[in-house]
Amino acid sequence: MELSLQNITKFYFKNLALDRFSVHLTPGIYALLGPNGSGKSTLMNILTDNLKADSGTVMYTNDAGISENILKMGERFREKIGFMPQYSGFYPNFSAERFLWYIASLKGLDKNTATLQIPEVLAAVELSDVANHRIGTFSGGMKQRLAFAQAILGDPEILILDEPTAGLDPRQSVSIRNYISEIALDKIVLIATHVVSDIEYIAKEVIVMKKGTIAAKGSPSLLAKNMEGMVWQVTVPSEEVSEMQMFYRVTNISVPPTDANHVILRILSGHKPTSDAKTIVPTLEDYYLYTFGTEIL
Ligand SMILES: Nc1ncnc2c1ncn2[C@@H]1O[C@H](COP(=O)(O)OP(=O)(O)O)[C@@H](O)[C@H]1O
Ligand SMILES: [Mg+2]
Repeated sequence: MELSLQNITKFYFKNLALDRFSVHLTPGIYALLGPNGSGKSTLMNILTDNLKADSGTVMYTNDAGISENILKMGERFREKIGFMPQYSGFYPNFSAERFLWYIASLKGLDKNTATLQIPEVLAAVELSDVANHRIGTFSGGMKQRLAFAQAILGDPEILILDEPTAGLDPRQSVSIRNYISEIALDKIVLIATHVVSDIEYIAKEVIVMKKGTIAAKGSPSLLAKNMEGMVWQVTVPSEEVSEMQMFYRVTNISVPPTDANHVILRILSGHKPTSDAKTIVPTLEDYYLYTFGTEIL
């Protein structure tokens, strides 16, 4: 199975949201990493046939090697997809379970499969206890988990998740993340996020988006490697922190356990910031912060 996006362009009036965006996806987890407004949701809405591109095509290739335009496939394509949009609408009077039954019928699941899977997905997102409660009484995090549950219902071969951990506490984020990596085998999974830790350890490939185009693409470790020799650790007296921040991109400040008068800075810089600065192993987050600089700091 393959999904191929070819030269996707999308304008909202005169605002160019996607600019000849092309990418080829095979089974595995891909991250769509980029700041707000970079075009992640637009891309996902086009990929799930919820929004029409101005130009470009999305081709789906099945395991027999036959390629088709997804617009031509219509329902046959949509039933292969689990989609968690960035903003989900729910009927507040439905219970979580009834909502999932409703989704199961939209997805064309037979009754036996739904009977089996609905309790499974509710358990996976830790909503079994409130399965019969009205969604109107749910917190934002609970609704977010229900949105994830409806996406994975029916075991779709393509899973498109738009900021799946937004509004979740760290423990729930980890639980969703682990669940995604468990079920990802044989699936194409695309996760949009601006939270590096969501995808750093599970994505086979990170597609870094900037203003509707691909700024970079590669495995998390390969992207992090670009920063080798540019991530520094410097210990300075506490009163020098603001001066260092004026001249350097400081991405972390910590206090050493034994010395309250000094701080340890993590600095991204093309040159050695101080004579006693040491280089440290770069992470994907260093790369992301360096790429987007002041846009997100
Ligand atoms: N429905 C819309 N109408 C007009 N402009 C939009 C709409 N949706 C998105 N945009 C614009 O398109 C660009 C990309 O947005 P979006 O795809 O939501 O990015 P992301 O998901 O990365 O935050 C932004 O400039 C945004 O303001
Ligand atoms: Mg978005």
